[in-house]
Amino acid sequence: MKHRILIVLSLFIFAASCTLDADPEPETNILIDGVWTGSGEGRGGTIIASVEVKNHQVAEVTILSQSESSFAQETINTITGKAVGREGLLNPETDAISGATLTSNGVIDAINMALLAAMGKRADGDKTYRDGTCDIVVVGAGGAGLSAAVSAAESGAGSIIVLEKQGIIGGNTNYSTGGVNAAETDIQKSLGIKDSKQLFYDDTIRGGKNENLPELVRNFVERAPGTISWLTGMGADLSDVGLMGGSSVKRTHRPKGGTAIGPHLMKILKTAATNKSIEIRTSNRVLGLLSSGPAVTGVRVENADGRTYTLKAKAVIIATGGFGANLQMVTKYQPWLSGFATLNHPGATGDAFNWIEPLGGATIQMENIQIHPTAEAENHILITEAVRGNGAILVNREAKRFVNEMDTRDIVSAAILKQTKGDAYLIFDQEVRTSLAAIETYANQHLLKKGSTITELAATAGIPEADLEATMSRYSAQQKAGLDEDFGRSATEMTAALQTPPFYAVRVKPAIHHTMGGLRVNTDAQVLRADGTPIPGLYAAGEVTGGLHGANRLGGNGVADIVVNGKLAGEVAARFVQRRN
Ligand code: SIN
Repeated sequence: MKHRILIVLSLFIFAASCTLDADPEPETNILIDGVWTGSGEGRGGTIIASVEVKNHQVAEVTILSQSESSFAQETINTITGKAVGREGLLNPETDAISGATLTSNGVIDAINMALLAAMGKRADGDKTYRDGTCDIVVVGAGGAGLSAAVSAAESGAGSIIVLEKQGIIGGNTNYSTGGVNAAETDIQKSLGIKDSKQLFYDDTIRGGKNENLPELVRNFVERAPGTISWLTGMGADLSDVGLMGGSSVKRTHRPKGGTAIGPHLMKILKTAATNKSIEIRTSNRVLGLLSSGPAVTGVRVENADGRTYTLKAKAVIIATGGFGANLQMVTKYQPWLSGFATLNHPGATGDAFNWIEPLGGATIQMENIQIHPTAEAENHILITEAVRGNGAILVNREAKRFVNEMDTRDIVSAAILKQTKGDAYLIFDQEVRTSLAAIETYANQHLLKKGSTITELAATAGIPEADLEATMSRYSAQQKAGLDEDFGRSATEMTAALQTPPFYAVRVKPAIHHTMGGLRVNTDAQVLRADGTPIPGLYAAGEVTGGLHGANRLGGNGVADIVVNGKLAGEVAARFVQRRN
Protein backbone atom coordinates (compact mmCIF):
# COMPACT_ATOMS: atom_id res chain seq x y z
CA MET A 1 0.00 0.00 0.00
CA LYS A 2 2.75 2.39 0.97
CA HIS A 3 4.29 1.70 -2.41
CA ARG A 4 1.16 3.02 -4.14
CA ILE A 5 1.00 6.07 -1.92
CA LEU A 6 4.58 6.90 -2.72
CA ILE A 7 3.90 6.62 -6.45
CA VAL A 8 1.14 9.19 -6.12
CA LEU A 9 3.24 11.37 -3.89
CA SER A 10 6.10 11.24 -6.32
CA LEU A 11 4.00 13.32 -8.72
CA PHE A 12 4.99 16.24 -6.57
CA ILE A 13 8.61 15.41 -6.10
CA PHE A 14 11.56 16.22 -8.27
CA ALA A 15 15.15 15.05 -8.60
CA ALA A 16 17.68 16.93 -6.50
CA SER A 17 19.91 19.36 -8.32
CA CYS A 18 21.57 21.15 -5.43
CA THR A 19 23.82 20.16 -2.60
CA LEU A 20 21.74 18.12 -0.20
CA ASP A 21 21.99 15.37 2.32
CA ALA A 22 19.32 13.18 3.77
CA ASP A 23 19.06 11.33 7.06
CA PRO A 24 16.76 8.38 7.63
CA GLU A 25 13.59 9.62 9.24
CA PRO A 26 12.71 8.62 12.80
CA GLU A 27 9.62 6.39 12.99
CA THR A 28 6.53 7.90 14.59
CA ASN A 29 2.92 7.12 13.78
CA ILE A 30 1.24 9.63 16.07
CA LEU A 31 -0.93 12.20 14.28
CA ILE A 32 0.09 15.74 15.14
CA ASP A 33 -2.83 18.12 15.74
CA GLY A 34 -3.41 20.65 12.96
CA VAL A 35 -4.86 20.93 9.45
CA TRP A 36 -3.04 18.90 6.79
CA THR A 37 -3.56 18.60 3.07
CA GLY A 38 -2.94 15.80 0.61
CA SER A 39 -3.81 14.85 -2.94
CA GLY A 40 -4.52 11.76 -4.98
CA GLU A 41 -5.56 10.94 -8.53
CA GLY A 42 -9.17 9.81 -8.96
CA ARG A 43 -11.04 8.89 -12.13
CA GLY A 44 -11.70 12.53 -13.08
CA GLY A 45 -8.38 14.09 -12.01
CA THR A 46 -6.70 15.34 -8.88
CA ILE A 47 -8.56 15.06 -5.57
CA ILE A 48 -7.38 17.36 -2.77
CA ALA A 49 -8.27 16.60 0.86
CA SER A 50 -7.83 18.69 3.97
CA VAL A 51 -7.70 16.69 7.20
CA GLU A 52 -8.13 18.26 10.61
CA VAL A 53 -6.46 16.35 13.44
CA LYS A 54 -7.54 17.04 17.04
CA ASN A 55 -6.27 15.12 20.05
CA HIS A 56 -4.25 12.92 17.65
CA GLN A 57 -7.41 11.70 15.90
CA VAL A 58 -8.97 12.68 12.58
CA ALA A 59 -11.68 15.19 13.51
CA GLU A 60 -12.82 16.26 10.06
CA VAL A 61 -12.06 15.59 6.40
CA THR A 62 -12.95 18.15 3.75
CA ILE A 63 -12.55 17.43 0.07
CA LEU A 64 -11.31 20.77 -1.22
CA SER A 65 -11.26 19.88 -4.88
CA GLN A 66 -12.35 16.97 -7.07
CA SER A 67 -13.79 16.38 -10.52
CA GLU A 68 -15.37 12.96 -10.11
CA SER A 69 -18.77 12.24 -11.62
CA SER A 70 -21.84 12.95 -9.51
CA PHE A 71 -22.27 9.18 -9.00
CA ALA A 72 -18.97 9.15 -7.12
CA GLN A 73 -20.18 11.47 -4.35
CA GLU A 74 -21.45 8.62 -2.21
CA THR A 75 -18.07 6.89 -2.45
CA ILE A 76 -16.31 10.10 -1.43
CA ASN A 77 -18.67 10.63 1.50
CA THR A 78 -18.31 7.03 2.66
CA ILE A 79 -14.52 7.11 2.64
CA THR A 80 -14.22 10.52 4.31
CA GLY A 81 -16.68 9.21 6.94
CA LYS A 82 -14.47 6.17 7.49
CA ALA A 83 -11.45 8.40 8.10
CA VAL A 84 -13.06 10.39 10.92
CA GLY A 85 -11.98 9.12 14.33
CA ARG A 86 -8.93 7.26 12.94
CA GLU A 87 -5.55 7.52 14.56
CA GLY A 88 -3.71 6.19 11.50
CA LEU A 89 -3.86 5.63 7.75
CA LEU A 90 -6.77 4.28 5.75
CA ASN A 91 -6.24 0.86 4.20
CA PRO A 92 -7.00 0.69 0.44
CA GLU A 93 -7.55 -3.05 0.70
CA THR A 94 -10.37 -2.76 3.24
CA ASP A 95 -11.53 0.88 3.02
CA ALA A 96 -12.05 1.16 -0.76
CA ILE A 97 -15.61 0.84 -2.10
CA SER A 98 -15.96 -2.04 -4.53
CA GLY A 99 -17.05 -0.96 -8.00
CA ALA A 100 -15.52 2.51 -7.53
CA THR A 101 -11.84 1.65 -7.35
CA LEU A 102 -10.38 4.69 -9.07
CA THR A 103 -12.31 7.25 -7.05
CA SER A 104 -11.77 5.26 -3.84
CA ASN A 105 -8.03 5.08 -4.38
CA GLY A 106 -7.81 8.79 -5.20
CA VAL A 107 -9.68 9.78 -2.03
CA ILE A 108 -7.72 7.32 0.11
CA ASP A 109 -4.41 8.54 -1.32
CA ALA A 110 -5.36 12.18 -0.70
CA ILE A 111 -6.37 11.49 2.91
CA ASN A 112 -3.36 9.26 3.56
CA MET A 113 -0.99 11.85 2.13
CA ALA A 114 -2.40 14.39 4.58
CA LEU A 115 -2.12 11.84 7.39
CA LEU A 116 1.51 11.11 6.52
CA ALA A 117 2.22 14.82 6.79
CA ALA A 118 0.37 14.81 10.14
CA MET A 119 2.73 12.02 11.29
CA GLY A 120 5.71 14.14 10.32
CA LYS A 121 6.54 11.78 7.49
CA ARG A 122 7.90 13.12 4.27
CA ALA A 123 6.18 12.32 1.05
CA ASP A 124 9.33 11.75 -0.97
CA GLY A 125 11.00 8.73 0.43
CA ASP A 126 11.60 9.32 4.12
CA LYS A 127 14.31 11.94 3.83
CA THR A 128 15.38 14.57 6.31
CA TYR A 129 17.52 17.30 4.81
CA ARG A 130 20.70 18.74 6.25
CA ASP A 131 22.50 22.02 5.60
CA GLY A 132 23.13 22.75 1.93
CA THR A 133 23.71 25.45 -0.68
CA CYS A 134 22.24 26.41 -4.05
CA ASP A 135 21.91 29.39 -6.38
CA ILE A 136 18.28 30.30 -5.77
CA VAL A 137 15.78 29.28 -3.12
CA VAL A 138 12.13 29.82 -3.99
CA VAL A 139 9.79 29.74 -1.01
CA GLY A 140 6.34 28.46 -1.98
CA ALA A 141 5.42 25.95 -4.68
CA GLY A 142 2.23 27.57 -5.98
CA GLY A 143 1.82 29.25 -9.35
CA ALA A 144 4.10 32.18 -8.49
CA GLY A 145 6.85 30.00 -7.02
CA LEU A 146 6.96 27.54 -9.89
CA SER A 147 6.79 30.35 -12.48
CA ALA A 148 9.78 31.95 -10.75
CA ALA A 149 11.71 28.70 -10.54
CA VAL A 150 11.11 27.77 -14.19
CA SER A 151 11.99 31.23 -15.47
CA ALA A 152 15.12 31.38 -13.27
CA ALA A 153 16.26 28.07 -14.77
CA GLU A 154 15.58 29.37 -18.28
CA SER A 155 17.54 32.52 -17.45
CA GLY A 156 20.63 30.56 -16.51
CA ALA A 157 20.45 29.95 -12.75
CA GLY A 158 22.32 26.72 -12.03
CA SER A 159 20.68 25.16 -9.02
CA ILE A 160 17.21 25.99 -7.76
CA ILE A 161 15.35 24.54 -4.78
CA VAL A 162 11.67 25.22 -4.14
CA LEU A 163 10.53 24.82 -0.53
CA GLU A 164 6.88 24.14 0.25
CA LYS A 165 5.57 23.83 3.79
CA GLN A 166 2.43 21.96 2.71
CA GLY A 167 2.46 18.27 1.79
CA ILE A 168 1.43 19.14 -1.77
CA ILE A 169 2.36 21.79 -4.27
CA GLY A 170 -0.05 24.32 -5.76
CA GLY A 171 -1.32 26.45 -2.87
CA ASN A 172 -4.27 28.63 -3.83
CA THR A 173 -3.48 28.07 -7.52
CA ASN A 174 -4.95 24.57 -7.14
CA TYR A 175 -8.38 26.18 -6.57
CA SER A 176 -8.16 28.99 -9.06
CA THR A 177 -10.85 28.93 -11.73
CA GLY A 178 -11.08 32.28 -13.51
CA GLY A 179 -8.12 32.69 -15.86
CA VAL A 180 -5.17 34.90 -16.78
CA ASN A 181 -5.79 38.51 -17.80
CA ALA A 182 -3.69 40.01 -20.59
CA ALA A 183 -4.31 42.51 -23.39
CA GLU A 184 -3.10 42.61 -27.00
CA THR A 185 -2.45 38.86 -27.05
CA ASP A 186 -2.30 36.81 -30.22
CA ILE A 187 -5.18 34.73 -28.86
CA GLN A 188 -7.41 37.78 -28.43
CA LYS A 189 -6.48 38.93 -31.94
CA SER A 190 -7.36 35.53 -33.42
CA LEU A 191 -10.77 35.76 -31.73
CA GLY A 192 -11.35 39.31 -33.02
CA ILE A 193 -11.25 40.87 -29.53
CA LYS A 194 -10.16 44.49 -29.63
CA ASP A 195 -8.19 45.36 -26.51
CA SER A 196 -5.19 47.45 -25.55
CA LYS A 197 -2.63 47.53 -22.78
CA GLN A 198 -3.81 51.05 -21.98
CA LEU A 199 -7.41 49.86 -21.54
CA PHE A 200 -6.18 47.00 -19.34
CA TYR A 201 -4.16 49.53 -17.32
CA ASP A 202 -7.17 51.87 -16.97
CA ASP A 203 -9.55 49.05 -15.94
CA THR A 204 -7.07 47.80 -13.32
CA ILE A 205 -6.54 51.27 -11.84
CA ARG A 206 -10.28 52.06 -11.87
CA GLY A 207 -11.07 48.67 -10.29
CA GLY A 208 -8.39 49.32 -7.66
CA LYS A 209 -9.92 52.74 -6.81
CA ASN A 210 -6.72 54.49 -7.82
CA GLU A 211 -4.86 52.99 -4.89
CA ASN A 212 -2.67 50.80 -7.15
CA LEU A 213 1.01 51.69 -7.55
CA PRO A 214 1.02 52.90 -11.18
CA GLU A 215 4.54 51.65 -11.95
CA LEU A 216 3.59 48.11 -10.89
CA VAL A 217 0.43 48.19 -13.01
CA ARG A 218 2.29 49.52 -16.06
CA ASN A 219 4.97 46.83 -15.76
CA PHE A 220 2.25 44.18 -15.29
CA VAL A 221 0.18 45.10 -18.36
CA GLU A 222 3.31 45.44 -20.52
CA ARG A 223 4.62 42.00 -19.54
CA ALA A 224 1.29 40.14 -19.56
CA PRO A 225 1.01 39.22 -23.29
CA GLY A 226 4.59 37.90 -23.34
CA THR A 227 3.79 35.77 -20.33
CA ILE A 228 0.76 34.30 -22.11
CA SER A 229 3.05 33.29 -25.01
CA TRP A 230 5.55 31.88 -22.49
CA LEU A 231 2.82 29.68 -20.98
CA THR A 232 1.41 28.53 -24.31
CA GLY A 233 4.97 27.80 -25.42
CA MET A 234 5.15 25.35 -22.51
CA GLY A 235 1.91 23.72 -23.67
CA ALA A 236 -0.73 25.70 -21.78
CA ASP A 237 -4.17 25.89 -23.38
CA LEU A 238 -5.39 29.48 -22.98
CA SER A 239 -7.56 29.48 -26.07
CA ASP A 240 -10.88 30.52 -24.45
CA VAL A 241 -11.06 34.22 -23.56
CA GLY A 242 -13.83 35.32 -21.22
CA LEU A 243 -15.20 38.36 -19.44
CA MET A 244 -14.77 39.09 -15.73
CA GLY A 245 -16.20 41.87 -13.56
CA GLY A 246 -14.67 45.32 -14.07
CA SER A 247 -12.98 44.45 -17.39
CA SER A 248 -14.14 46.43 -20.42
CA VAL A 249 -13.56 43.53 -22.84
CA LYS A 250 -12.91 39.81 -22.83
CA ARG A 251 -9.32 39.36 -21.64
CA THR A 252 -9.39 36.43 -19.19
CA HIS A 253 -7.47 33.59 -20.88
CA ARG A 254 -8.45 30.07 -19.82
CA PRO A 255 -8.46 26.54 -21.24
CA LYS A 256 -10.85 25.54 -24.04
CA GLY A 257 -14.47 25.35 -22.93
CA GLY A 258 -13.77 27.43 -19.82
CA THR A 259 -12.31 24.76 -17.55
CA ALA A 260 -10.53 25.85 -14.39
CA ILE A 261 -7.18 27.51 -14.96
CA GLY A 262 -5.39 26.57 -11.71
CA PRO A 263 -4.93 22.78 -12.01
CA HIS A 264 -4.05 23.18 -15.69
CA LEU A 265 -1.40 25.78 -14.89
CA MET A 266 0.11 23.69 -12.10
CA LYS A 267 0.39 20.71 -14.43
CA ILE A 268 2.22 22.78 -17.06
CA LEU A 269 4.56 24.41 -14.52
CA LYS A 270 5.25 21.14 -12.68
CA THR A 271 6.21 19.44 -15.95
CA ALA A 272 8.47 22.36 -16.89
CA ALA A 273 10.10 22.28 -13.44
CA THR A 274 10.71 18.54 -13.73
CA ASN A 275 12.22 18.94 -17.18
CA LYS A 276 14.57 21.57 -15.81
CA SER A 277 15.65 19.39 -12.85
CA ILE A 278 14.30 21.88 -10.34
CA GLU A 279 14.04 20.29 -6.91
CA ILE A 280 10.83 20.75 -4.93
CA ARG A 281 10.79 19.82 -1.25
CA THR A 282 7.29 19.52 0.14
CA SER A 283 6.62 19.51 3.92
CA ASN A 284 9.69 21.77 4.33
CA ARG A 285 8.72 24.92 6.21
CA VAL A 286 10.87 28.05 6.06
CA LEU A 287 11.35 29.57 9.53
CA GLY A 288 13.27 32.69 8.57
CA LEU A 289 15.84 34.31 6.32
CA LEU A 290 19.64 34.15 6.68
CA SER A 291 21.48 37.42 6.17
CA SER A 292 24.95 38.85 6.08
CA GLY A 293 24.95 42.61 6.61
CA PRO A 294 22.07 43.99 4.55
CA ALA A 295 21.96 41.04 2.12
CA VAL A 296 19.83 37.91 2.26
CA THR A 297 21.98 34.78 2.01
CA GLY A 298 19.53 31.90 2.39
CA VAL A 299 16.82 30.43 4.61
CA ARG A 300 16.41 28.42 7.78
CA VAL A 301 14.13 25.43 7.22
CA GLU A 302 12.22 22.93 9.31
CA ASN A 303 12.07 19.36 8.03
CA ALA A 304 8.82 17.42 8.33
CA ASP A 305 10.17 15.76 11.49
CA GLY A 306 10.86 19.12 13.18
CA ARG A 307 14.65 19.09 12.72
CA THR A 308 16.02 22.29 11.21
CA TYR A 309 18.66 22.98 8.59
CA THR A 310 19.98 25.95 6.64
CA LEU A 311 19.99 26.40 2.91
CA LYS A 312 22.45 29.05 1.73
CA ALA A 313 21.58 30.75 -1.55
CA LYS A 314 22.73 33.71 -3.62
CA ALA A 315 19.11 34.84 -3.99
CA VAL A 316 15.80 34.07 -2.29
CA ILE A 317 12.41 34.52 -3.96
CA ILE A 318 9.42 34.70 -1.64
CA ALA A 319 6.28 33.30 -3.29
CA THR A 320 4.35 32.21 -0.23
CA GLY A 321 0.95 33.66 -1.16
CA GLY A 322 -1.29 35.80 1.00
CA PHE A 323 -2.72 35.53 4.51
CA GLY A 324 -6.36 34.82 3.70
CA ALA A 325 -6.39 31.63 5.83
CA ASN A 326 -4.98 33.44 8.87
CA LEU A 327 -8.19 34.81 10.34
CA GLN A 328 -6.36 36.40 13.26
CA MET A 329 -4.30 38.44 10.83
CA VAL A 330 -7.28 39.19 8.57
CA THR A 331 -9.31 40.55 11.47
CA LYS A 332 -6.33 42.53 12.78
CA TYR A 333 -6.55 44.58 9.57
CA GLN A 334 -10.31 44.27 8.99
CA PRO A 335 -12.15 43.46 12.24
CA TRP A 336 -15.52 43.37 10.46
CA LEU A 337 -14.46 40.21 8.62
CA SER A 338 -14.67 38.21 11.85
CA GLY A 339 -16.90 35.19 11.21
CA PHE A 340 -16.47 35.22 7.41
CA ALA A 341 -15.52 31.98 5.70
CA THR A 342 -12.32 31.86 3.68
CA LEU A 343 -11.75 30.49 0.20
CA ASN A 344 -8.03 30.09 0.89
CA HIS A 345 -6.04 26.88 1.27
CA PRO A 346 -4.86 26.21 4.85
CA GLY A 347 -1.26 27.26 4.11
CA ALA A 348 -2.15 30.89 3.26
CA THR A 349 -1.07 32.15 6.67
CA GLY A 350 1.27 35.05 5.86
CA ASP A 351 4.40 33.62 7.52
CA ALA A 352 6.73 35.68 5.31
CA PHE A 353 5.73 38.96 6.94
CA ASN A 354 7.57 37.90 10.12
CA TRP A 355 10.74 37.04 8.19
CA ILE A 356 11.28 40.43 6.62
CA GLU A 357 10.83 42.51 9.78
CA PRO A 358 14.42 42.06 11.06
CA LEU A 359 15.71 43.22 7.66
CA GLY A 360 13.57 46.34 7.64
CA GLY A 361 11.39 45.06 4.79
CA ALA A 362 8.32 47.21 4.14
CA THR A 363 4.70 46.23 3.62
CA ILE A 364 1.97 48.16 1.85
CA GLN A 365 -1.86 48.31 2.01
CA MET A 366 -2.20 45.32 4.36
CA GLU A 367 -5.76 46.41 5.12
CA ASN A 368 -6.84 45.85 1.50
CA ILE A 369 -8.53 42.46 1.78
CA GLN A 370 -10.89 41.25 -0.92
CA ILE A 371 -14.05 39.29 -0.30
CA HIS A 372 -15.39 37.34 -3.28
CA PRO A 373 -19.15 37.77 -3.81
CA THR A 374 -19.97 34.24 -4.87
CA ALA A 375 -18.74 31.58 -2.47
CA GLU A 376 -21.21 28.70 -2.30
CA ALA A 377 -22.88 29.30 1.04
CA GLU A 378 -22.82 25.83 2.64
CA ASN A 379 -19.40 24.49 1.64
CA HIS A 380 -17.54 27.75 0.97
CA ILE A 381 -16.52 26.70 -2.52
CA LEU A 382 -15.66 29.45 -4.98
CA ILE A 383 -18.18 29.85 -7.79
CA THR A 384 -16.16 31.58 -10.45
CA GLU A 385 -17.09 35.08 -11.58
CA ALA A 386 -16.97 33.61 -15.08
CA VAL A 387 -20.48 32.18 -14.45
CA ARG A 388 -21.73 35.77 -14.28
CA GLY A 389 -19.37 36.70 -17.14
CA ASN A 390 -21.09 34.03 -19.23
CA GLY A 391 -24.56 35.35 -18.36
CA ALA A 392 -25.78 34.47 -14.82
CA ILE A 393 -27.68 36.96 -12.67
CA LEU A 394 -28.01 37.38 -8.90
CA VAL A 395 -31.31 37.58 -7.06
CA ASN A 396 -32.03 37.98 -3.37
CA ARG A 397 -34.31 35.86 -1.19
CA GLU A 398 -37.23 37.91 -2.49
CA ALA A 399 -36.24 36.80 -6.03
CA LYS A 400 -35.33 40.36 -7.06
CA ARG A 401 -32.14 41.52 -8.79
CA PHE A 402 -30.28 44.14 -6.75
CA VAL A 403 -26.96 44.98 -8.48
CA ASN A 404 -25.12 45.00 -11.79
CA GLU A 405 -23.70 41.50 -11.43
CA MET A 406 -20.65 42.45 -13.52
CA ASP A 407 -19.61 45.33 -11.32
CA THR A 408 -16.36 45.03 -9.37
CA ARG A 409 -16.20 42.53 -6.50
CA ASP A 410 -16.24 45.09 -3.72
CA ILE A 411 -19.49 46.54 -5.05
CA VAL A 412 -21.20 43.19 -5.71
CA SER A 413 -20.11 41.78 -2.32
CA ALA A 414 -21.34 44.88 -0.46
CA ALA A 415 -24.67 44.66 -2.29
CA ILE A 416 -25.15 40.98 -1.34
CA LEU A 417 -24.35 41.69 2.30
CA LYS A 418 -27.17 44.27 2.37
CA GLN A 419 -29.79 41.69 1.30
CA THR A 420 -31.94 39.59 3.65
CA LYS A 421 -29.63 37.18 5.52
CA GLY A 422 -26.63 38.60 3.62
CA ASP A 423 -26.78 36.07 0.82
CA ALA A 424 -28.11 35.69 -2.73
CA TYR A 425 -28.88 33.16 -5.45
CA LEU A 426 -26.84 32.90 -8.60
CA ILE A 427 -29.30 31.99 -11.37
CA PHE A 428 -28.48 30.68 -14.84
CA ASP A 429 -29.75 28.36 -17.54
CA GLN A 430 -28.51 25.43 -19.59
CA GLU A 431 -26.99 27.75 -22.22
CA VAL A 432 -24.69 29.26 -19.57
CA ARG A 433 -23.88 25.82 -18.16
CA THR A 434 -22.92 24.52 -21.59
CA SER A 435 -20.73 27.56 -22.23
CA LEU A 436 -18.48 27.05 -19.18
CA ALA A 437 -16.94 23.69 -18.35
CA ALA A 438 -16.07 24.84 -14.81
CA ILE A 439 -19.79 24.53 -13.98
CA GLU A 440 -19.58 20.74 -14.42
CA THR A 441 -17.34 20.61 -11.35
CA TYR A 442 -20.03 22.39 -9.31
CA ALA A 443 -22.61 19.92 -10.63
CA ASN A 444 -20.37 17.01 -9.59
CA GLN A 445 -20.03 18.58 -6.17
CA HIS A 446 -23.87 18.75 -5.91
CA LEU A 447 -23.84 22.52 -5.55
CA LEU A 448 -26.53 23.21 -8.19
CA LYS A 449 -30.24 23.36 -7.54
CA LYS A 450 -32.15 22.55 -10.72
CA GLY A 451 -35.62 23.13 -12.16
CA SER A 452 -37.05 22.22 -15.52
CA THR A 453 -38.99 25.50 -15.35
CA ILE A 454 -38.27 28.75 -13.54
CA THR A 455 -41.22 28.04 -11.21
CA GLU A 456 -39.80 24.64 -10.36
CA LEU A 457 -36.37 26.15 -9.74
CA ALA A 458 -37.83 28.78 -7.41
CA ALA A 459 -39.68 26.08 -5.48
CA THR A 460 -36.50 23.97 -5.17
CA ALA A 461 -34.44 26.97 -4.05
CA GLY A 462 -37.17 28.16 -1.67
CA ILE A 463 -37.70 31.61 -3.18
CA PRO A 464 -41.02 33.17 -4.33
CA GLU A 465 -42.04 31.56 -7.60
CA ALA A 466 -44.04 34.36 -9.19
CA ASP A 467 -41.37 36.92 -8.30
CA LEU A 468 -38.59 34.85 -9.87
CA GLU A 469 -40.73 34.40 -13.01
CA ALA A 470 -41.22 38.18 -13.19
CA THR A 471 -37.53 38.95 -12.57
CA MET A 472 -36.36 36.48 -15.20
CA SER A 473 -38.81 37.60 -17.81
CA ARG A 474 -37.89 41.27 -17.28
CA TYR A 475 -34.18 40.46 -17.47
CA SER A 476 -34.61 38.39 -20.65
CA ALA A 477 -36.46 41.25 -22.33
CA GLN A 478 -33.78 43.73 -21.29
CA GLN A 479 -31.02 41.39 -22.45
CA LYS A 480 -32.66 41.14 -25.88
CA ALA A 481 -32.98 44.93 -26.03
CA GLY A 482 -29.35 45.30 -24.87
CA LEU A 483 -30.40 47.71 -22.13
CA ASP A 484 -30.46 46.98 -18.40
CA GLU A 485 -32.64 49.85 -17.20
CA ASP A 486 -32.50 48.60 -13.61
CA PHE A 487 -28.79 48.22 -12.84
CA GLY A 488 -26.87 49.33 -15.93
CA ARG A 489 -25.34 45.99 -16.91
CA SER A 490 -23.96 46.70 -20.38
CA ALA A 491 -25.08 44.87 -23.53
CA THR A 492 -21.65 43.15 -23.71
CA GLU A 493 -22.07 41.98 -20.14
CA MET A 494 -25.58 40.57 -20.70
CA THR A 495 -24.23 37.47 -22.40
CA ALA A 496 -27.29 35.19 -22.17
CA ALA A 497 -31.08 35.60 -22.29
CA LEU A 498 -31.49 32.91 -19.61
CA GLN A 499 -34.39 31.19 -21.35
CA THR A 500 -32.98 27.73 -22.08
CA PRO A 501 -34.20 25.06 -19.64
CA PRO A 502 -33.28 23.53 -17.32
CA PHE A 503 -32.51 26.37 -14.92
CA TYR A 504 -30.01 26.40 -12.06
CA ALA A 505 -29.48 28.20 -8.76
CA VAL A 506 -26.61 28.30 -6.27
CA ARG A 507 -26.93 30.05 -2.90
CA VAL A 508 -23.89 32.29 -2.49
CA LYS A 509 -22.42 34.45 0.25
CA PRO A 510 -19.27 36.62 0.19
CA ALA A 511 -16.11 35.01 1.63
CA ILE A 512 -12.48 36.07 2.19
CA HIS A 513 -10.69 35.63 -1.12
CA HIS A 514 -7.51 37.63 -1.69
CA THR A 515 -5.16 39.72 0.44
CA MET A 516 -4.16 42.59 -1.82
CA GLY A 517 -1.62 44.19 0.49
CA GLY A 518 1.79 42.68 1.12
CA LEU A 519 5.53 43.10 0.67
CA ARG A 520 6.55 46.35 -0.99
CA VAL A 521 8.35 45.51 -4.26
CA ASN A 522 9.68 47.47 -7.23
CA THR A 523 9.33 46.70 -10.93
CA ASP A 524 12.29 44.31 -10.66
CA ALA A 525 10.46 42.23 -8.03
CA GLN A 526 13.01 43.30 -5.39
CA VAL A 527 11.69 43.54 -1.83
CA LEU A 528 12.06 47.11 -0.57
CA ARG A 529 12.76 48.70 2.79
CA ALA A 530 10.65 51.55 4.09
CA ASP A 531 13.08 54.08 2.51
CA GLY A 532 12.53 52.49 -0.93
CA THR A 533 15.95 50.81 -1.19
CA PRO A 534 16.03 47.12 -2.16
CA ILE A 535 17.16 44.34 0.17
CA PRO A 536 20.02 42.70 -1.78
CA GLY A 537 19.28 39.13 -2.80
CA LEU A 538 15.58 39.20 -1.85
CA TYR A 539 12.76 39.02 -4.39
CA ALA A 540 9.02 38.41 -4.11
CA ALA A 541 6.12 37.65 -6.43
CA GLY A 542 2.39 36.96 -6.31
CA GLU A 543 -0.12 37.42 -3.52
CA VAL A 544 2.58 37.96 -0.90
CA THR A 545 3.31 41.33 -2.53
CA GLY A 546 1.15 44.45 -2.30
CA GLY A 547 0.27 47.51 -4.34
CA LEU A 548 -0.55 46.04 -7.75
CA HIS A 549 -4.28 45.62 -7.17
CA GLY A 550 -4.97 48.66 -5.00
CA ALA A 551 -8.24 48.54 -3.08
CA ASN A 552 -9.95 45.95 -5.29
CA ARG A 553 -8.45 43.28 -7.52
CA LEU A 554 -10.12 42.50 -10.83
CA GLY A 555 -11.04 38.89 -11.53
CA GLY A 556 -8.30 37.28 -13.63
CA ASN A 557 -5.60 39.67 -12.36
CA GLY A 558 -4.63 37.31 -9.51
CA VAL A 559 -3.43 34.46 -11.70
CA ALA A 560 -1.96 37.00 -14.13
CA ASP A 561 -0.01 38.50 -11.21
CA ILE A 562 1.49 35.17 -10.14
CA VAL A 563 2.66 34.18 -13.61
CA VAL A 564 3.76 37.62 -14.83
CA ASN A 565 5.60 38.58 -11.65
CA GLY A 566 6.76 35.04 -10.87
CA LYS A 567 8.41 34.92 -14.29
CA LEU A 568 9.88 38.39 -13.73
CA ALA A 569 11.28 37.51 -10.28
CA GLY A 570 12.95 34.39 -11.70
CA GLU A 571 14.60 36.32 -14.53
CA VAL A 572 15.88 39.13 -12.32
CA ALA A 573 17.11 36.80 -9.57
CA ALA A 574 18.96 34.67 -12.13
CA ARG A 575 20.71 37.77 -13.50
CA PHE A 576 21.67 38.78 -9.95
CA VAL A 577 23.10 35.32 -9.27
CA GLN A 578 25.14 35.42 -12.48
CA ARG A 579 26.63 38.78 -11.45
CA ARG A 580 27.61 37.28 -8.09
CA ASN A 581 29.26 34.19 -9.63
C1 SIN B 1 -12.98 33.70 -9.94
O1 SIN B 1 -12.88 32.83 -10.81
O2 SIN B 1 -14.02 34.30 -9.73
C2 SIN B 1 -11.79 34.01 -9.14
C3 SIN B 1 -10.65 34.32 -10.01
C4 SIN B 1 -9.91 35.50 -9.51
O3 SIN B 1 -10.02 35.85 -8.34
O4 SIN B 1 -9.20 36.12 -10.31
